[in-house]
Amino acid sequence: MPRIELRGLVKRFGRTVAIDHLSATIGDREFFVVVGPTACGKTTLLRLIAGLIRPDRGEILFDGVVVNDLPPPARRVRMVFQGQDYALFPHLVVCDERRWSNLTFPLRLRARALGEVSERVRQVARRLRIGRELFPRRPGELSEGQKQRVAVGKAIVLPPRILLLDEPLSHLDPHARAEAREELRGLHAELGATTVYVTHDLAEAFLLADRVAVMRAGRFEQVGTPREVRDRPTNAFVADFVRSYRETVRRAFP
Ligand SMILES: Nc1ncnc2c1ncn2[C@@H]1O[C@H](COP(=O)(O)OP(=O)(O)OP(=O)(O)O)[C@@H](O)[C@H]1O
Ligand SMILES: [Mg+2]
Repeated sequence: MPRIELRGLVKRFGRTVAIDHLSATIGDREFFVVVGPTACGKTTLLRLIAGLIRPDRGEILFDGVVVNDLPPPARRVRMVFQGQDYALFPHLVVCDERRWSNLTFPLRLRARALGEVSERVRQVARRLRIGRELFPRRPGELSEGQKQRVAVGKAIVLPPRILLLDEPLSHLDPHARAEAREELRGLHAELGATTVYVTHDLAEAFLLADRVAVMRAGRFEQVGTPREVRDRPTNAFVADFVRSYRETVRRAFP
């Protein structure tokens, strides 16, 4: 599974600088979490890695090879999108082992045998708690949290090399979210995909990450293990971010 290198990336939208000379290396099989305030450039960064948009400057490398000119399918990156439709097929049901459906689509596209398709989708559905009662429904007939779980399922039925997750648990209640977090860690260990996970939630970042990047205004302010970021912030922004989060938790649970 690839190591991802980002070298001096810049992405502008008109006068907005969404990514501002960002450099970092994400290790092979690493669970890398990007956390930062709204509009700091998190989604833009994932779209750059997926190849959905091109940087204005800088390079993206997978295992030392520049992929700037590779179109998304050739990068073999799977992304779970933030919000609304999550790139699910609206006209297909969640899962039908014998037909084209959201969960079987990637496997059928690769002409996998029926037995293999059935086994794999059942396994994924079980892990993500996608109950059989949801199988015959279309995405429009699901709650947001259910849609998110199906979107993660669709992204992993065919194990990806690189998995990009844009706030994939944001619509789950705290209990379901804690459960899904455990499952995601387990899945990561199984799949071994290099994973970049975006969240607003510092606690979630600390619970999931091998390493965390605290992002602000298109740059990484600090990259380190959860413990390093929590105990040894390298600048005032990160220190404030951690402190204000602690404060919120302390007020809620005095
Ligand atoms: N296609 C676009 N056209 C113009 N501006 C854009 C476009 N996409 C993103 N931006 C701008 O780039 C900046 C970064 O946006 P981005 O979506 O990456 O933020 P984010 O960190 O994912 O925010 P959120 O946490 O709210 O999802 C924002 O100022 C946004 O308005
Ligand atoms: Mg976003």
